[in-house]
Amino acid sequence: MTAVATRRAGLQVPGSTRIWPDLVSFLADPVAPYDVLVEVTTQSPRDGEPAATHIRAALGSGRDVVTANKGPIAWHESELRRIAAGSGARLRYEASLMDCLPAHPIRESIVPVGRILSFAGIVNATTNGILSAMAEGRSAAEALAEAQRSGQAEADPRNDTEGHDAALKATVLANLLLDPPELLTPASVDRRGLEAVPESWPAEAVGRGARVRLVVRGESTGEGAARGVRVRVGPEELPLDDSLAPVGATSMALRIESEYGGRLQLALLGAPVQSTAYAILMDLVALERTPRG
Ligand SMILES: NC(=O)c1ccc[n+]([C@@H]2O[C@H](COP(=O)([O-])OP(=O)(O)OC[C@H]3O[C@@H](n4cnc5c(N)ncnc54)[C@H](OP(=O)(O)O)[C@@H]3O)[C@@H](O)[C@H]2O)c1
Repeated sequence: MTAVATRRAGLQVPGSTRIWPDLVSFLADPVAPYDVLVEVTTQSPRDGEPAATHIRAALGSGRDVVTANKGPIAWHESELRRIAAGSGARLRYEASLMDCLPAHPIRESIVPVGRILSFAGIVNATTNGILSAMAEGRSAAEALAEAQRSGQAEADPRNDTEGHDAALKATVLANLLLDPPELLTPASVDRRGLEAVPESWPAEAVGRGARVRLVVRGESTGEGAARGVRVRVGPEELPLDDSLAPVGATSMALRIESEYGGRLQLALLGAPVQSTAYAILMDLVALERTPRG
């Protein structure tokens, strides 16, 4: 497998004399020397670009795609699935959700024997870290600066702090776990971020034996023709006996309620720095092990 990624004009790969005008022409070319696209470009929470264009080109040319980028899946999953079905290519995106916490196997195990009725989760470690620091008495600005110094928060943290990242993940989770009648996009998520957290709330919540967390929730509503799926993201005060409350600073968790199996919760406790790469490898190994259908 040859790994190539460049934005410079003219793209050449080792072992080939051919020059492609740009990355997208390379990805779309059925004879370009690559097998699988691993898409890890910068996330755009508003439209999933440029990743969506890269993924369309690769799937359209029959190449499998593994991505850690939730934007293109949240905004364009329905179209990407259609392109993949047309070319026989496969699209995997476990790393885009909660690093290596395995959400796809939950669906694969549970849905054949009953529906998943709802999910709740803490899916953004950055906001979880900021809320944990505020619970210890730091101001929101101090908590954010601390997260930026440790590398947990970006220089421009709004993608996390305004809840966009969590809304993208909630969309992808809802489409994966709840089988909505039509695939959702982030436009339908009721989203609030840390701007909805008064400065003193996290520390006061500790005094009440509770924790403030940015929680994503999805649930099936109605039945038959009236069936729908509702998704929301926002800060909540969770009592300590809520299984999501103890999920700490750098951790993430997903709890689901299924039709017959009751409640199940998975947590990634203190995600190590390599956990996203590990999830990408999990998907690559799954592709290698599963013959194309
Ligand atoms: N970091 C994590 O822990 C984590 C966890 C889960 C998922 N993800 C997802 O994984 C992806 C990568 O994360 P990251 O933290 O590594 O992001 P990043 O720091 O923004 O790096 C992204 C890389 O993509 C390149 N790039 C951006 N636009 C491009 C384009 N049009 N064509 C070719 N290359 C382009 C950038 O190149 P330049 O340096 O030249 O700009 C950079 O090397 C994101 O979608 C993120 O949401 C990350």
